[in-house]
Amino acid sequence: MRRVLIVAVLVIFVTLLVYFGLSALGLMPAQASAQAESIDWLFNLEIIVISFLFALIVVPLVYSLVAFRRKPGETGDGVHVEGNTGLEIGWTVIPLIVVLTFAYMGAENLGQVRRVDPQAMQVRVTGYQWGWQFKYPAYGIRSQELYLPVNEQVLFKMESTDVIHSFWVPEFRVKQDLVPGRETEVRVTPLQVGRYTLRCSELCGTQHAYMNAPVVVVSREEFDAWVTERQIEAAAALASGPDADRGKEKYLAYCKACHSIDGSKGVGPTWLGLLGEEVVLDDGTTFIADEAYILRSIKEPASQVVAGYPPMAFNAEAVGLTDADLADLVEFIKTLK
Ligand code: CUA
Repeated sequence: MRRVLIVAVLVIFVTLLVYFGLSALGLMPAQASAQAESIDWLFNLEIIVISFLFALIVVPLVYSLVAFRRKPGETGDGVHVEGNTGLEIGWTVIPLIVVLTFAYMGAENLGQVRRVDPQAMQVRVTGYQWGWQFKYPAYGIRSQELYLPVNEQVLFKMESTDVIHSFWVPEFRVKQDLVPGRETEVRVTPLQVGRYTLRCSELCGTQHAYMNAPVVVVSREEFDAWVTERQIEAAAALASGPDADRGKEKYLAYCKACHSIDGSKGVGPTWLGLLGEEVVLDDGTTFIADEAYILRSIKEPASQVVAGYPPMAFNAEAVGLTDADLADLVEFIKTLK
C-alpha cells in the first residue's frame, strides 16, 4: 500500500513536470485566429493526457527497477501471477472511454473550426510553381500580398495551376492543400493584427522552400485604404501603357523563382541579354529572340522549350497576369542588357 501511494504521488509529480516543461518550451507560434484558439485548446488537453500516460508508464517502470531489483543472495524466481480480470477490464474500458471522448471532442472542435459565417469575404488563391496570387472578387483587385481585415471571417477558394501545393499560415493553424483540377476551400478568422508568412507545405519542386507570401492582418479601415490604393494603382497602370518599373515588380513576384536577371542559370534561362540573343530550342531550331518569342514563351511555355531546360507548365492567365502585365514584363526585359 505504501509503495502504491509513493508511485501515485510520483506519477502526479512527473505528469505536472512534463506538462509544464512542454508548455514552457513555447513550441507554438502566436495564436492569431479564431480557428487557432479551438485547435490549441484541444491540443493542450491532449498534451495533459500525453503527460499523464508518459508518467503512468515511466514512473512504475523506473520505480520497479529500483525497488524490486535482485538483492545479493536472492536466487529464486519471482511470484507467478496468472491474470487479473478486474485489471484487464479496467485497462480496456478506461482507454476506450478516453478515446471515444476525444473522438467526440475532436468532431465538435472540427465543427467550430469550420463554422461558416455567411458574411465571410471571399479571397481566391492561386498556387503555382512557385508563388501565390490572391484575388478579391468583391473589390476587383489582385495582389501578391495577402491583406486581411482583422476579426472578419475569410473564405479562401483555392486552385493550383500545376502540382499540389498547400496553404499554411502557422499562426492561423489551419492548413489546406491546393489540388490541380479541383477547388478547395478553408476559412480563417484572423484575430491579431500583424505580419505573418504564408508557406507552401507540400513538396512541389525545386523552389518549394521559397514559395512564401506575406500575410498582413490590419484593421478594417486600413484594409479599405489598401483596397482603394490597389484600385487606383490598377487604373493608373491601365491608362499609362507598358512600364519597365512595373515589369520589374511583376518579375520579382512571378518570375524570379525560375529566371535570373544576372546571367546565372536557374530552372529556366536567364533574362539577361535575352532580347536579340540567339535561342536554340530542344528540337534544334535556332532563331533570334524577339518580343513575339518572349510573349509566346510566357503564354505557352510548352510550345518552344529552350535546349537544356525542362518544359514548364507556367500558366500566365491562371495566375492572373493580363496582357498589360506581359507588356510591362517585356518592357523590363528590354532593360536587361
Ligand atoms: Cu508549392 Cu511547395
